Amino acid sequence: MLYEKFKIKNLELKNRIVMAPMCMYTSNNEGMVNDWHLTHYKSRAVGQVGLIIVEATAVLPNGRISGNDLGIWSENHVNGLKDIVKGCHKEGSKVGLQLAHAGRKCGVKNEENVAPSSFEFSGNYPVPNELTEDEINDIIKAFKEAARRADEAGFDTIEIHAAHGYLIHQFLSPIANKRQDKYGGSLENRVRFLNQIIKAIKEVWEDQKPILLRVSADDYLQGGIDIKQMIDIINRIKNDIDIVHVSSGGIDAADINVYPGYQVKYCEAIKTQCNIPTIAVGMITKYEQAEEILSNGRADLTALGRELLKNPYWPILEALRNKIEIFIPQQYDRAIK
Ligand SMILES: Cc1cc2nc3c(=O)[nH]c(=O)nc-3n(C[C@H](O)[C@H](O)[C@H](O)COP(=O)(O)O)c2cc1C
Repeated sequence: MLYEKFKIKNLELKNRIVMAPMCMYTSNNEGMVNDWHLTHYKSRAVGQVGLIIVEATAVLPNGRISGNDLGIWSENHVNGLKDIVKGCHKEGSKVGLQLAHAGRKCGVKNEENVAPSSFEFSGNYPVPNELTEDEINDIIKAFKEAARRADEAGFDTIEIHAAHGYLIHQFLSPIANKRQDKYGGSLENRVRFLNQIIKAIKEVWEDQKPILLRVSADDYLQGGIDIKQMIDIINRIKNDIDIVHVSSGGIDAADINVYPGYQVKYCEAIKTQCNIPTIAVGMITKYEQAEEILSNGRADLTALGRELLKNPYWPILEALRNKIEIFIPQQYDRAIK
């Protein structure tokens, strides 16, 4: 199944190989795309990745993880992002953009750290300022504007980053959210911020382009989100999103038992119990492993991170190793065949 097509709404992928979003920390201090990004993403398109999800891209300057993250908080960002999309489309890959806000995990000097509550992420992070309702509304608007710009840049899909302990995850998880207003306490309240972001995005995002949501299905901490709660969260919002990209961890320091495919069980649970397409990710490195996940109905797509950093031609080489027919750019024919 790995090399079979996949279609959802107007997004048609040539295979089920996804490049997971990975920060390159390579932008200038204004969040602009440069040569590195163009080469990096296009190389994976040449390598025949079906869907490339561009790294966490900040919807506001203080939503950056580092001073070298990509940004999409202004109209000036659109052209560079457009060039990434164009370069990848030329090679037949589809392209998504991950929209992100770091919240209390913002590591940019002279930017204000904000969060649902004034509790810092462990380690060397400052105590964040608790967001007021007006400020929450401004961030929701920033996600909406970012989605409009992503559409203008030609992205085939967007991925809302609600994982890894960043701002949306901070609202979802009781570990970081201690609010007593309508954004804290009950699950319904903790989901409100995400829900409002999705609703705002849908006002500007083309209906026929799918929306991805990346979540951490387990906080691995007492009192945090577990898979049962994440299933409840997804069930509340699933009518407004199209695919769930299932990761885990990041809300605070935790012991995580990491092994090949360690997050697939969460992905399978969300797929089967929420009845929504999913992307599996996390130490998936071999064709056989991806095939097992897809053929057993545990996910609809498989994402690779570090393996694709190491080897942009992974889709081609794994196909050849398994005697599966695949398009090879004619420029590389003599080397690869
Ligand atoms: C260098 C690097 C940067 C990353 N940046 C992001 C990111 O921008 N957004 C995100 O959701 N995950 C990010 N991740 C996590 C990856 O998307 C992926 O979930 C993780 O690496 C596990 O997959 P793997 O075992 O195939 O590498 C990053 C990982 C790496 C190694």
